[in-house]
Amino acid sequence: MSDRVKKLQQILDRYNIEAMLISKPENRRYISGFTGSAGTLLIDKQNAYLFTDFRYVEQVKEQCPGFKVIQIGDDFYQKLLHLLQKSGVSRLGFETHYVTYESYDKMAGELSGVQLVPVKDIAEELRLIKNSEELQLIEKAVDITDRAYSEMLQLVKTGMTEKELALELEFIMRRLGAQGRAFDFIVASGPRGALPHGVASDRVIQPGDMVTIDCGAVYKGYHSDMTRNFVLGKADEKQQEIYNIVLEAQVAGIEAVRPGVPAASVDLAARGVIERYGYAQNFGHGTGHGVGLAIHEGPRISFQEQELILKPGMVLTVEPGIYLPGWGGVRIEDIVLVTENGCRILTKTPKNQLPVI
Ligand code: GLY
Ligand code: MN
Ligand code: MN
Repeated sequence: MSDRVKKLQQILDRYNIEAMLISKPENRRYISGFTGSAGTLLIDKQNAYLFTDFRYVEQVKEQCPGFKVIQIGDDFYQKLLHLLQKSGVSRLGFETHYVTYESYDKMAGELSGVQLVPVKDIAEELRLIKNSEELQLIEKAVDITDRAYSEMLQLVKTGMTEKELALELEFIMRRLGAQGRAFDFIVASGPRGALPHGVASDRVIQPGDMVTIDCGAVYKGYHSDMTRNFVLGKADEKQQEIYNIVLEAQVAGIEAVRPGVPAASVDLAARGVIERYGYAQNFGHGTGHGVGLAIHEGPRISFQEQELILKPGMVLTVEPGIYLPGWGGVRIEDIVLVTENGCRILTKTPKNQLPVI
């Protein structure tokens, strides 16, 4: 049995369940190693089962040592019920944030005699701390992003559309070994910079525009996430001023990252700087989030997260921004690793000066 399955089995009691169903893709992959698109894990105190269809049976046998593979067609619930009865499971956890109402309804109808227990974040709890192998994959995704961004900067010119720039960036990432992009890239130029999630559009990049690019690569399932800005031509005073404030806030956020502190303290450190300059109303999102098999995972870096304590091995983003409707915006985002003594910034792309191209 893998360590991850054992850890999950050890915490079943804490959630007051005897077995757990897992089908959210990144959790399924984390616990079993299975990379396919369809399958459900059943973990009870002694056993680990993986239900999948004909397409994936052989793949599961290769990828998931320690799991008993059960091939299903439309008989999933019958086979599941049989195993639950065999193991004497009366309280079965399911992923509240992933199971749809329709599946829940079906499951409740089919699994007579079994109490379905909503469980939030049991596998996510294990995923919070990355091991060295996961860290290597994240660092590789970060490295691809750094190198691709630097290559892309050589190609930027006015007259290109945001979408063209996004496409160039993705192409370079794939050439450098990424399996794909981590999300739809944000390329927000000029006034579009005021949209925190301004996915690349057909807008033509103009001389004098501030451009915000938020991008990342996926490498063997692991994500990276980085935001940088640049100006085409010459930066004006306002662009320089807003950039410097966001940079100061971002550095303050990173300086607050260390083990033993609540996630909220990172948010408050960054937010405090932006508030001090009078832009509190223009920073309306959290300061960051964990990154791993998902682009957004725990720990959430928000001023509300007073209970969530940072620990060595957590990987998170620090990404404050200022967004001014009609003018544009700036966000700076790095990925950092919480270490025994503080943190290590994984992102290498320079940020100390606003690049002018
Ligand atoms: N790329 C989305 C984010 O930074 O969270
Ligand atoms: Mn991002
Ligand atoms: Mn992010």
